[in-house]
Amino acid sequence: MGKDTGIDSMAVYIPKYYVDAGELAEKRGVSPEKFRQGLGIERFSVFYRENLVDAGVNAVSRLLERSESEKISRFYVATETALDEAKPLGCFILGRLKGYDFQNVESLELKFACVAGSYAVYDCWNYLKLHPDRKAIVLCLDEARYDLRSAAEPTQGGGAVALLLGAEPGLVSLDFSSVGVFTGDINDFYRPFGRETPIVDGDLSVYTYLLAVKEAYRDLKQKLGKDLILDQLDRLVFHVPYPKMIMHGLSFLLRHEYRNTESWKEIRKETAEPEPEVAGSATLFDENFRERDRRFRKALMKTQWFEEVFQEKTSASLIATSQTGNLYAGSIWLALASLFEYGEPEAGEKVGFGSYGSGAGTLAFQGTVKAGEKMVLEEQFSKRQKLSVEEYEKMRLNNK
Ligand code: HMG
Repeated sequence: MGKDTGIDSMAVYIPKYYVDAGELAEKRGVSPEKFRQGLGIERFSVFYRENLVDAGVNAVSRLLERSESEKISRFYVATETALDEAKPLGCFILGRLKGYDFQNVESLELKFACVAGSYAVYDCWNYLKLHPDRKAIVLCLDEARYDLRSAAEPTQGGGAVALLLGAEPGLVSLDFSSVGVFTGDINDFYRPFGRETPIVDGDLSVYTYLLAVKEAYRDLKQKLGKDLILDQLDRLVFHVPYPKMIMHGLSFLLRHEYRNTESWKEIRKETAEPEPEVAGSATLFDENFRERDRRFRKALMKTQWFEEVFQEKTSASLIATSQTGNLYAGSIWLALASLFEYGEPEAGEKVGFGSYGSGAGTLAFQGTVKAGEKMVLEEQFSKRQKLSVEEYEKMRLNNK
């Protein structure tokens, strides 16, 4: 296996403006609690008087302040907010980074909805195993924009997360020697050429996420020759389109992990809701099954057992997204930053990752915390300015 390889350092850039989810709810004539509690969103980031490239340049510059830039030989950008059909976003960003010589740096743009960042990290991990003296940067950069007044509107967001990858990493060592994978042709969320906003089947996207993450974990367990894995993972970090999604995701994952165990009989005593059968691809379009499953997930979420697992392994990773909305490719890495900012993970703790992208694909993989570090999230949140709903709507209608 050679040297440990993983994330040496991370830099997150949060846009300067946000919209208050409660104020948006009032304007849309729905209860603010629907957005705050129902989805877990308090505020969402908007790019106003700044753009995507500014955000990327900012995140990468911060990372470079702490790195030996001459060792960097790869710069991958994961995005679904490309600026051009041919020229990769990386070239726009490298062009703005003055004072560095990146002429011999490999630069590619990767696309697979929100899972692209994890594929980029996976690919660079393999590269760094061959070249342990080199470093790679993966920049996850997106603006998550939905139609005004759509159900998805409060889950919008945006921002940049830059990861410096290398051997003997300072932050998190990653293990891609066994990766759980799910790939399917599913139209839960997609953005045809020329469209500013995606076409979203919200209910299908939620259930596809659940199934795809569960199937990727099943694949990972099979590859590792294990029946159970969640007990061995101290923290669980997922792609976070909005925080409530992860409660459903965890509930679904736990049900399928524990259902054949002795302890499940005890856990089941905490809820009277009938348990649905095992979910598989055949249940994807079965609305009756999906509804029964939703009821069971919610009942399980109310148990003391679920609350303990959720608080211990997952809740700290969701705090940042409640303040930013969806970052698409960067969302799972923002969740990791949130874990470091609010969850105080200790060296040696095992982290399980579940990275989902619509369309649809999932990677499940593992990592180990090397050392704790604050991520400068709170400081950025406290310096932001609020955009009124009227200003936000005007900006959108002017298509800025
Ligand atoms: P919705 O209309 O808000 O759905 O759309 P809802 O009516 O089911 O309500 C949401 C929650 O609010 C429910 O909680 C309600 O009970 C609750 P749940 O039952 O699920 O636990 N609620 C309330 N709670 C408290 N007080 C109240 C109240 N009223 C209702 N008064 C939907 C939600 C996710 C469909 C929508 O936001 C959407 O379409 N979002 C975009 C798609 C998305 O994020 N899907 C997630 C999985 S797909 C993914 O993650 C990939 C993605 O990131 C793209 C990529 O990969 O590039 C999106």
